[in-house]
Amino acid sequence: MTLLSADTVVCDAERAVSDGAVVVEDDRIAAVGDREELLDAYPDHEQVTCDVLAPGLVGAHIHSVQSLGRGIADDEELLDWLFDHVLPMEADMDAAEMRAAADLGYLELVESGTTTAIDHLSVAHADQAFEAAGDAGVRALMGKVLMDKDSPDGLQEDTDAALAETERLIQRYDGARGGRIRYAVTPRFAVSCTEACLRGCRELADEYGVRVHTHASENRGEIEAVEADTGYRNVHWLDEVGLTGEDVVLAHCVWTDETEREVLAETGTHVTHCPSSNMKLASGVAPIRDYLDRGVNVALGNDGPPCNNTLDAFTEMRQASLLGKVEELDPTALPARTVFEMATRNGATAAGFDDVGELREGWRADVVGLSTDNARSTPIHDPYSHLAFAAHGDDVTLTMVDGEVLYRDGEHVRMDAESVR
Ligand code: GUN
Ligand code: FE
Repeated sequence: MTLLSADTVVCDAERAVSDGAVVVEDDRIAAVGDREELLDAYPDHEQVTCDVLAPGLVGAHIHSVQSLGRGIADDEELLDWLFDHVLPMEADMDAAEMRAAADLGYLELVESGTTTAIDHLSVAHADQAFEAAGDAGVRALMGKVLMDKDSPDGLQEDTDAALAETERLIQRYDGARGGRIRYAVTPRFAVSCTEACLRGCRELADEYGVRVHTHASENRGEIEAVEADTGYRNVHWLDEVGLTGEDVVLAHCVWTDETEREVLAETGTHVTHCPSSNMKLASGVAPIRDYLDRGVNVALGNDGPPCNNTLDAFTEMRQASLLGKVEELDPTALPARTVFEMATRNGATAAGFDDVGELREGWRADVVGLSTDNARSTPIHDPYSHLAFAAHGDDVTLTMVDGEVLYRDGEHVRMDAESVR
């Protein structure tokens, strides 16, 4: 039983409370409101004080297992970077390296305030990453990658074997660790998957009621390859094989035309915007304002550490807003509140966690606390601008998931940071 309090409590994109508090009982939020009133009402709760409290951030597209690949081909475009560098790296990784990479990824997420991740693993050793996320204590939607077409040695799989391994992992991990871990069927992208594989992914998702997470329309070479192969534009191809809908999360969606955007909106497909990655790989500027105007749920993701160098979700809020403003030549195009919502509630919606992403009574106690004890932070004129434009992951002083403190004042509670690094 804990009473978290702060000068500023950001509950959601609409509501922020000055001198506020959040009462945590077991894994849930029991109350949110005025600090003095809640101190009176809950005098015996352990008190933890931060400068700012907010919902834990949601990284809605990451690759924890690429955490050891920073600096790989930093100046190449997606397909060369992927096929010449990243895929060979993944193919060469043994189980211990996969675990080490995932541990490092989760360590960084926890200490920079991300409490939920949608994680795209690799073809092999997925168990290692599931155990890493589970041991780290985070909430995660994650899945082994399927690659059964035109893939390098060491990654290329037999279609039925890839689907069978996916089914084994769903049975083993979906709902694990008290429900913090959920499974997402994760075909890598249309370039690496046969039609049979993609249709098989839809069947498994339907059979087990789990989500699908994949990459789509990230780069021009990718959409040209998909069109040459299938005769369809990327999103239309995914729609054709059943991989659009309210249970589907598509990372990137930079190169979509009008008709594809209509499909995304009509089917309720979720999009994860990865602005830093899209800039670093020169993939392009995703039409995020347009998606939001159409009612598409857009979340935020860091993508893999090789295409961003950091898993800090505060960076992604900042980059998303800046890129949106420049794209539209409109300072109100993607304001701080909007990118905050993308990094919290929209991410939880994409991941299918219904009671996550806001500080709200009865919802999961997934909370981040920040210090403003640095020159960037004073004074706070607007809490959303503070979170989107001034705050960094290294301001985080508290990370809590399901009411459990995972990180506080520079110390990890569950993880042995020294051995992971
Ligand atoms: N598309 C298919 N695989 C990948 C990957 O590992 N990273 C990125 N950024 N895009 C991809
Ligand atoms: Fe990615």
